[in-house]
Formats: sequence, C-alpha cells, structure tokens
Amino acid sequence: MPRTFASAPVMVLNGPNLNLLGKRQPEIYGTDTLADIEALCSEAAAVHGGTVDLRQSNHEGELIDWIHEAREAHSGIVINPAAYTHTSVAILDALNTCDGLPVIEVHLSNVHRREEFRHHSYVSLRADGVIAGCGIQGYAFAVHRVATLCGAGTAAA
Ligand code: DQA
Repeated sequence: MPRTFASAPVMVLNGPNLNLLGKRQPEIYGTDTLADIEALCSEAAAVHGGTVDLRQSNHEGELIDWIHEAREAHSGIVINPAAYTHTSVAILDALNTCDGLPVIEVHLSNVHRREEFRHHSYVSLRADGVIAGCGIQGYAFAVHRVATLCGAGTAAA
C-alpha cells in the first residue's frame, strides 16, 4: 500500500540542545518546551488526518538512523537540526537518500539575523522548504506543508 499522510506519521526531528528548550536561552528560543511542540504538531497533523512522531537527540548518528527510518516508514520529515544545520554533511547525505519524501527545515530563531556562521545550512540543499524565526509555530507550518506536499486534504469534522 502506498504511504499517505494519513497512513504514516510525520517524523519531527530535533537536534542537539533542543531537549533543553524552555530553559535554554529563552530570550532567543522562547519558553515553550518540546512537549508543547509535540502538541502543536499533533494538532496540525490531525487537521489532515495524520499523526507525528517527534524525537530529539544530541547525537548526529542517532539523527541519521532516524532519517533512515523515516525513509522507510514516514510520510515526510520536519527537521530542526540545531547546530548540525551548519556543520553536518552527514545529515545532508542522509536526507539525500530520501527520494521523493517531503523535507521541511525549521529553525525557531531567525538564523539570518544572527551570527554569520548560522547563515549557511547544509540541510537547505535538500529541504523542500525552510522556515525560520516563527518560533514553535514554524513546526506547525512545516507539518501543514508536509501534508500539502503529500496531497492530503483536510479531515472531515
Ligand atoms: C536553531 C538555530 C541554530 O543555529 C542553533 O544552533 C540551534 C537552534 C533554531 O531553532 O533557531 O540550536 O536551529
């Protein structure tokens, strides 16, 4: 059976230090937590009859293993690679194995208004869309975009 938005969850991946969201530099990243992001993403996915599978790791290899898993079993990937955005060819290579899978890159902060080293993203070379500076709302936008790219409609009320 072909994978659809309703039949396979969206993989929502979060990179290093995002486990501390809510406590970490709240003036930049806000006071919402990963649990708040999970709730927001679930709500967004439900609009289109889908679900999300949210994970966080401080380890590059684990994120790569999860991208490989998404390649086989998920409808799309929403990824905030955190600092790996700016350094990881390995994460880019992993995403490049996901032919045809929607990939949306999200950053809580507006990386383009910050230090110059944050202006370059390896992940953007594969991402179908990039959202930055919209706080946790950016994740919801990204889930809606994955649904659109999967051709999902809106679930009947
Ligand atoms: C971030 C921006 C990155 O530059 C930073 O390393 C992060 C979080 C963001 O969500 O704004 O850890 O991806």
